[in-house]
Amino acid sequence: MKNNNISSSLIPHPSSLILVTGGAGYIGSHTLIELDKAGFDFIVLDNLSNSSEKAIRRVEKIINKKIPFVKGDIRDKKLLREIFKENKIDSVIHFAGLKAVGESVEKPLEYYENNVCGTNNLLEVMKEFGVKKFVFSSSATVYGEPDKMPVTEDMQTGVGITNPYGRSKYMIEEILKDLFISDNSWKIAILRYFNPVGAHESGMIGEDPEGIPNNLMPFITQVAVGKLPKLRVFGGDYPTHDGTGVRDYIHVMDLANAHVKALEYLNNNNDLNEPLIVNLGTGQGYSVLDMVKAFERASGVKIPYEIVDRRPGDIAKIYANPNKAKELLGWEAKRGIDEMCESAWNWQSKNPKGYKGE
Ligand code: NAD
Ligand code: UFG
Repeated sequence: MKNNNISSSLIPHPSSLILVTGGAGYIGSHTLIELDKAGFDFIVLDNLSNSSEKAIRRVEKIINKKIPFVKGDIRDKKLLREIFKENKIDSVIHFAGLKAVGESVEKPLEYYENNVCGTNNLLEVMKEFGVKKFVFSSSATVYGEPDKMPVTEDMQTGVGITNPYGRSKYMIEEILKDLFISDNSWKIAILRYFNPVGAHESGMIGEDPEGIPNNLMPFITQVAVGKLPKLRVFGGDYPTHDGTGVRDYIHVMDLANAHVKALEYLNNNNDLNEPLIVNLGTGQGYSVLDMVKAFERASGVKIPYEIVDRRPGDIAKIYANPNKAKELLGWEAKRGIDEMCESAWNWQSKNPKGYKGE
């Protein structure tokens, strides 16, 4: 595998591996720790388009183990074939994708190419090699603007999605359902994440967005370290308890652990008659101002803010009914917003410039 930064050949290959695409990213890097804790071995594929290899190196320190890492793209079929040929891959956890909502409106073709074509490519190569276990990072965004709350998995998806990023997630879900219909020996888990925030307790890894953050929590933490002057709260006139948008924030380590549970579920169930689809949230909705207050409590730092116009495409409120994940996977979120804010602050205050500060 020339031209690729592969350390896997230096390491004795365990009998079966999980291929983690996008494993250098925010959620992927945290999930590696939980996978390791549960005794799974893995290899990471990431093109580093939105991440740094430093995240992998730091996870190596946390788990005290070398991580086989391939710098490459899920759209590169030749590379994928080489990875599947050289490693005994048993399953794939697929995080790789572009995720900036606003950017997806400007560059829809890039988003469909990367997310939809990239996933299709990966599935094709998996099929060629007879690897049929797949865990997919989907999103609450597939529900569009739901008319009932909390959201359950059987509710309508695909209608009212306001951007190409969200539609790419919906399209991939549909591809996965069709794939299962064509061959029910596939074992597929579609995980619909709500709003992941926070960081590993070590403060060594965390969310490190490029440029000005789009998401609320990294914006707040960058205001707290003085990188940004103040938070702009998008909309103060929503029909919510304080007028600001309500979301279901979930600690990234709880989310990471759900991937282990999903994989175990696929491993332990041989008679699945459809893809597993579960919401991963806490079931609690918090407003933007609730999050600001919780962050101030956790950090002792005042967050200046102003309320500005609504952000186009935002909805007033969304939170999960997480019961299905509890029933089927035995999983539920354990950490509350205080812990989410404390850990986000622990990461940001120790790494004010993210991985670039190293
Ligand atoms: P992230 O950008 O930190 O991680 C994604 C990783 O995929 C990055 O390391 C990036 O370099 C890599 N990547 C992108 N395109 C690739 C390609 N073509 N080939 C190889 N690697 C590629 O994002 P994240 O927050 O960790 O999200 C992980 C997954 O979860 C994404 O699919 C995202 O859409 C989904 N998700 C995220 C959120 C959220 O709020 N963070 C919510 C719902 C769903
Ligand atoms: N918000 C602000 N100011 C900011 C950023 C956000 O007020 O600077 C508000 C938003 O208006 C919204 C809330 O904070 O009310 C959360 O916004 P985020 O951008 O953090 O998250 P979203 O709910 O818009 O979307 C996120 C991810 C999507 C994912 C979705 C799943 O960005 O990729 O959660 O629910 F699909």
